[in-house]
Amino acid sequence: MTSTAITGIGELTTNDDELGDLTDAALVLDGDRIVWAGPAAAAPAADHAIDVAGRAVLPGWVDSHTHLLFAGDRTAEFTARMNGEPYAAGGIAVTVDATRAAADDELTATLRRHVAEATAHGTTCLETKTGYGLTVADELRAARIAAAEVDEVTFLGAHLVPPGQDADDYVDLVSGDMLDAVADHVGWCDVFCERGAFDAEQSRRVLRAAADRGLGLRVHGNQLGPGPGVRLAVELGAASVDHCTHLEPDDIAALAGSGTVATLLPACDLSTRQPLPPARELLDAGATVALASNCNPGSSYTSSMAFCVTTAVLQMRMTVPEAIRAATLGGARALRRDTGDGAVGVLRPGARADVHVLDAPSTSWLAYRPGVPLTHAVWRAGTRTR
Ligand code: NIG
Repeated sequence: MTSTAITGIGELTTNDDELGDLTDAALVLDGDRIVWAGPAAAAPAADHAIDVAGRAVLPGWVDSHTHLLFAGDRTAEFTARMNGEPYAAGGIAVTVDATRAAADDELTATLRRHVAEATAHGTTCLETKTGYGLTVADELRAARIAAAEVDEVTFLGAHLVPPGQDADDYVDLVSGDMLDAVADHVGWCDVFCERGAFDAEQSRRVLRAAADRGLGLRVHGNQLGPGPGVRLAVELGAASVDHCTHLEPDDIAALAGSGTVATLLPACDLSTRQPLPPARELLDAGATVALASNCNPGSSYTSSMAFCVTTAVLQMRMTVPEAIRAATLGGARALRRDTGDGAVGVLRPGARADVHVLDAPSTSWLAYRPGVPLTHAVWRAGTRTR
């Protein structure tokens, strides 16, 4: 294997407690791993060197919440929303019809296009969900396609009760035959626990069945109004509860006292004209916060983690370091990939070589220059992708 030194780093964000944030730093990559990080003056020799001329370097974004297995278009729904219509969970059914009708090749091509778009803007670890199939065969197909393309796959058969089906019969199917079919292709199970989708008891049944099959748990909760999602996620020891838009003080206290990550999806809240989530209150209470794109054709059609970071800083009262950490190490924690050999969201020896170089002297520019594309170079698992 050949090693590569990235030199001339003006500002290095490592997310590692011992290394901290460095100025005038260097990194060395070998194969798919970081093998050295520290002050430039102490850097070991490497086979190649790339001087980034004072730019800021940080871990690649970890996007822990997307829905990229889809076909079809919902521009008209978005336009209607911007004209005052509310967002409703039922819009999911439009994408379900289009996705069922699409060929495997079309789904794969759409997924790859969105992953490439995300990577070009600094995303190096990405989760995606099933959930636009809602039959055993369609969910299995989505899980298989996704497993070949992304880092983490989540089964979301409990995204919506298919129109015309009885809710409890559908929950039986999801927690029985559907889970059995997909379990070998996914690492996670998620439930949309919300009025108009699945109630707490139905969600609990699906999640318990998934845990029995060895899957990790995640919950869509408190997106459209207050509800039981956050408390259910904490009760079941879910790795994350995602959205967290409408939280009550008890929800914040429950998250702060748990290992469940609060994954905030600000692009979704803006696109559905919901309030932004109470990030400051969560952080001040001691909860672990992640930021993710929620890229999907209905509620949040962006893959830009930079946009989420910018919004978090300018509108959610997060500091730049808090937002950067949430979009890297926070996402890694939500996916339980933040520790050990090959960890993501962190730059230290042994971590996966996922490196994002900004065309900026400081990560502050992500908020200081909102909307300006700042990705200069990206390495994913040691391979330069941009
Ligand atoms: O996270 N909340 C449920 N699922 C997606 C929305 C999907 C859609 O509208 O198609 C979300 O926002």
